[in-house]
Amino acid sequence: MYAQAPENEFARDVREGLARDGQKTLSCRYLYDPVGSALFDAITCLAEYGLTRADARLVECHAAEIIARIPGHILLAELGSGSGAKTRPIMLRLGERLGRRRKVIYYPIDVSGAALERCARELASLGTIVPLETDYLEGLERVAEQRSPGETLLVLFLGSTIGNFEPEEAADFLAAVRSRLSPGDALLLGTDLVKPAAQMLLAYDDPAGVTAAFNLNLLGRINRELDGDFDLRQFEHVARYDGAAQRIEMHLRSRSDQVVTIGKAALVIEFAAGETIWTESSHKFRPEQIVALACAAGFRLERQWIDCEWPFAESLLRAQ
Ligand code: AVI
Repeated sequence: MYAQAPENEFARDVREGLARDGQKTLSCRYLYDPVGSALFDAITCLAEYGLTRADARLVECHAAEIIARIPGHILLAELGSGSGAKTRPIMLRLGERLGRRRKVIYYPIDVSGAALERCARELASLGTIVPLETDYLEGLERVAEQRSPGETLLVLFLGSTIGNFEPEEAADFLAAVRSRLSPGDALLLGTDLVKPAAQMLLAYDDPAGVTAAFNLNLLGRINRELDGDFDLRQFEHVARYDGAAQRIEMHLRSRSDQVVTIGKAALVIEFAAGETIWTESSHKFRPEQIVALACAAGFRLERQWIDCEWPFAESLLRAQ
């Protein structure tokens, strides 16, 4: 019955993560289908999840200084721009600096075509928007190819998305970003900071259950796209904090002994009651760890700002 080969990358990854011995896993990149993206947008509005507001506040408050610290003509790019809402103050300040002489050029890079369309629509009055629907590094390479001599790149990587990488991946990723930049180019990196465990756990297990729905939707997505038969009511959302690893983990815990089939992944999986699927890690940082990570990748710290309401850091890094 399930003899056919897995049809796509999603099916292959699901198979690899769920068929393994030991801890079952699913990659957090699959949390963001249209339903998951809408639920994530709702998370960012929750009182318990201060991260996005802190990030936006820091960019808004310090946009003028960020721009002032980078001389010359700036080309702006953003990794994982989404709708680009947090970028508006930077574009405004850049526009002020350029006056009528030149237009701001902004390259939002994202895998979601829908988010890029929204971004281009909403920021159109502030400059020339060149959306790149591709992965971060490929997009950055394309931006770097288009720059003219004398232009400086300012790359934004906001929202603490770097925290969703494993530490080794984060280090490799920053080095890969650096290798696509020239000395003097800048990276504005947003990172969520370590804070009391109870505050972090509430942010990832809100009482209204929005984060639980976001997590459970991953099983719903498997049902919709891969012909799975997960009973979502037989799984519960769990958020844990691992202090040694400085990470919040999201899991989906089986409420009973059960068997699930996923047709398009050619998979029949047994779950024991209490067993979990690990779906996301969200690493938290100390300010000096961000500096160490960036320096190891070939950047130096130009300036770091920390939000006083919700511990979150915006670090302006320069390629050495
Ligand atoms: C996108 N990323 C930085 C979010 C985070 O906080 O790790 C994703 C998220 N997961 C649960 N809530 C929000």
